[in-house]
Parts: sequence; C-alpha cells; structure tokens
Amino acid sequence: MSESNTPLYGGNQSRITVTDLAKAKKDKQPWPMLTCYDALTASLFDELGIPVLLVGDSAAMVMLGYDTTVPITVDELLVLVKAVARGAKRALVVADLPFGSYQSSVSDAITNASTMMKAGASAVKLEGGARVLPQVKALVQSGIPVMGHLGLTPQSINALGGYKVQGKGDSAHQLIEDAIALESAGAFAIVLEVVPAELAKEITQQAKIPIIGIGAGVDVDAQVLVWQDLAGLTKDPAPRFLKRYASLRTSLADAVKTFADDVITKKYPEKKHSY
Ligand code: KIV
Repeated sequence: MSESNTPLYGGNQSRITVTDLAKAKKDKQPWPMLTCYDALTASLFDELGIPVLLVGDSAAMVMLGYDTTVPITVDELLVLVKAVARGAKRALVVADLPFGSYQSSVSDAITNASTMMKAGASAVKLEGGARVLPQVKALVQSGIPVMGHLGLTPQSINALGGYKVQGKGDSAHQLIEDAIALESAGAFAIVLEVVPAELAKEITQQAKIPIIGIGAGVDVDAQVLVWQDLAGLTKDPAPRFLKRYASLRTSLADAVKTFADDVITKKYPEKKHSY
C-alpha cells in the first residue's frame, strides 16, 4: 500500500498531521480518537494506531476528582500534555484549552495555546461557536491548529443547566451556522457532543473539515470517547451514547482484592518472586 493510501487507524506512517485528517475526510475514511492523560497509556494507544489523542479537560473529572471540567487550570493540564507527548510517537496530540484560558481575549488564547504547543501538543481544542471566532482566527494565523467543540460544551455546564442533548428545535440552525463559521475561521476539525444524529449527519455533510462525534450518531467522520468510559473504569450510570468495551473497574477490583488476600494469607510473594 502506498504512503498516500496508508490508513489513519493502525497505519505505520510517521506523525499524523492535520493534513492526514483532511485527506481521511475526502476519502470517507472513519477514524477513532481517544482521550489520554499519561505517557504509559499514550504509548499503548499509539502502538495500537489510534491517530489522534486528546488531552481533554475531562482530566478534571477522570484524573483529578473535580465534579466538572470547569476548575482545571492550564498548569494542571500542562503536566498531562507533556506526559502524553512523551508517550505518543505517531498520534497527533491535541491539548484542550481549559475554561477561562481563552474566553476573555485573543491574547490569552495565544499565550495559553503556545504553552500547550511548547509542551508537545500539535493542536489545541476550544469550546464554542461565534463567540470564539476571533480566538480561532488568531490562533490559526499564529500557526496553531485548532479543533472546535460544539453541542454539549461541558465548560458551559453552569449556563446549559445540565448534561442535556443540544441542537434540538430552533437551536439546530445555530449549531450548523457555528460549525460553518468555525470551518471558515480555519478550524481543522470539530467535536460535536450529544446532538441528534440527524443534525450531526447534516453538519458532517455540509462541513469540509472532519466532524468528530461523541453522542452524535454514526454519520460523522470520526468518533471520540473518554478512554476510562470505554474501558469501564468509570462508575455507572453511563450516558446513553456510551458503549463500554471492557469492565476494567471489575477486573482491577478483583486483582486488588486477590493481592490484598494474598498478602494477608502470606500467599504472596512466593519463592519465585523472592531473591
Ligand atoms: O475533554 C474531553 O475529554 C473532551 C471529549 C469528551 C471530546 O472534550
């Protein structure tokens, strides 16, 4: 298979770029994206050929124990971006810009996005449509690839009033306009979170850039999940869109209980584990 036809997922070419993602859209080639927050997991996902790793601000909840994504800071996320960048040799590493790090000015956006790029990210992600267009344009002009995020934007959870399906009724039109505006401002891809499948399909058809769904149905260009959700490490209840591909919480609990029992009953370590 020639280099130009190398598949995004599992292919063996060198570092994935935003150009590869644009080509996948043209070729109608779907691809998986996962969140990632540490070097060990990054190296595994990288070996498996996952083309895009997102150091999401979901780290606030699945790594740092906050109730929402709102509290996480640039400094907290930065440590994780550096770790993922060290672990991933092939994947495109995207760093989320945390709440409060880009909304108030273009200058804030450039400063904080530059910090993420210096830490090893190859792109940044930010939430919102029309209201962040100046930031998106300025970042792209500064040479920083930008991934947009529309629909359920968790940084606005206090304004949205809960984790609800977005883009129903009249707001569908606004979502389409926001997607097209982000594309015109230079975004290279857009995450579309928890919107009706028909609307996601329409946006995917209209947009020339890849649309990455999470709770947005099957007719999008790519799918993203938080890896601890996919692996069944997070607790139920799970959102309707989530498919758990493993039961890591149960497996880990079994392993830890067995270890603890072995210690108490002196079954571990055995002779073969001793020097
Ligand atoms: O922060 C995050 O993990 C995300 C994904 C769920 C898309 O934004």
